[in-house]
Amino acid sequence: MLTFSALTLPLRSRLALVGLLLVPFCTPASASAGATVAAPVADALTARLAACISCHAREEKRDAYFPRIAGKPATYLYNQLINFREGRRNYPLMTYMVAHQSDAYLAEMADYFSRLSPSYPPAPASNNSIDQAMLTRGQTLVERGDASRKIPACAACHGASLNGGHPAIPGLLGLPGDYINAQFGAWRNQVRHAAAPDCMAEIANRLSSADVAAVSQWLSRQTPSLSTHPAARPTLPLPLDCGSARQP
Ligand code: HEC
Ligand code: HEC
Repeated sequence: MLTFSALTLPLRSRLALVGLLLVPFCTPASASAGATVAAPVADALTARLAACISCHAREEKRDAYFPRIAGKPATYLYNQLINFREGRRNYPLMTYMVAHQSDAYLAEMADYFSRLSPSYPPAPASNNSIDQAMLTRGQTLVERGDASRKIPACAACHGASLNGGHPAIPGLLGLPGDYINAQFGAWRNQVRHAAAPDCMAEIANRLSSADVAAVSQWLSRQTPSLSTHPAARPTLPLPLDCGSARQP
């Protein structure tokens, strides 16, 4: 509901760009078979991905609902693109964007976005309408978890800096609160899935609705550091097994 209304207005102009992306990918070299001129592949890809950036803009990190994708681990981004394509995540517009794209092209896009280094203006200062007790609860869950309810600290997997870890754990800063909240709803309603065992679905089920609101609010109020790139590897073993983040 929130998703739909938040998207309706800005979407019109963004959708104009989407058509650009859906033309089958071909470099100048493949378009003119036999040409000897080297193809500027990176530039062609950058132009094509302008459609993605219209929603996932580096600067728009707190735009109503659009998640930051820049600087997240390539394998995480690739997994999500495949998940949208295969119906393990459900967001019609994203499904449409990737529906007929090959694994190789999705990997190329994931790799491109993982290399971007966005910078973020400071998070908005908390105002009085924000419940401070709720923010404190959010911070505690993120940094220390809640042993009494077997909720591990988010930082145990997402990293002390919350920038995520290779190969497939995403950073949590620079995401809109509504987006984070909605992802927990999707795990609990079984419309977002990752490879089994799906640790985030398990964690979502252990958190109360108030906890979800608390972590979403607290996380969305943190300013990402200049380098949002993930840690080389999270500290192993993870407190819960995550099929999508298994190390080779
Ligand atoms: C019209 C806006 C729009 C466009 C264009 C768009 N996206 Fe998205 N994208 C979204 C929204 C909204 C979500 C969150 C959906 C959800 O709730 O699961 C999303 C989710 C994602 C995710 C998962 C993010 C995460 O952190 O888990 C990835 C990866 C992604 N998009 C990549 C792309 C790529 C690559 C393109 C270009 C091919 C693209 N998107 C184009 C709106 C858009
Ligand atoms: C046991 C490790 C682990 C713990 C603990 C953990 N996460 Fe995660 N988290 C993951 C993995 C792995 C993914 C990627 C799942 C996928 O591929 O869809 C993820 C994904 C996410 C995402 C999706 C990000 C996006 O851009 O869509 C959010 C939000 C998230 N976690 C929040 C949290 C919060 C909040 C906590 C603490 C309450 C937490 N996580 C604890 C491993 C963990």
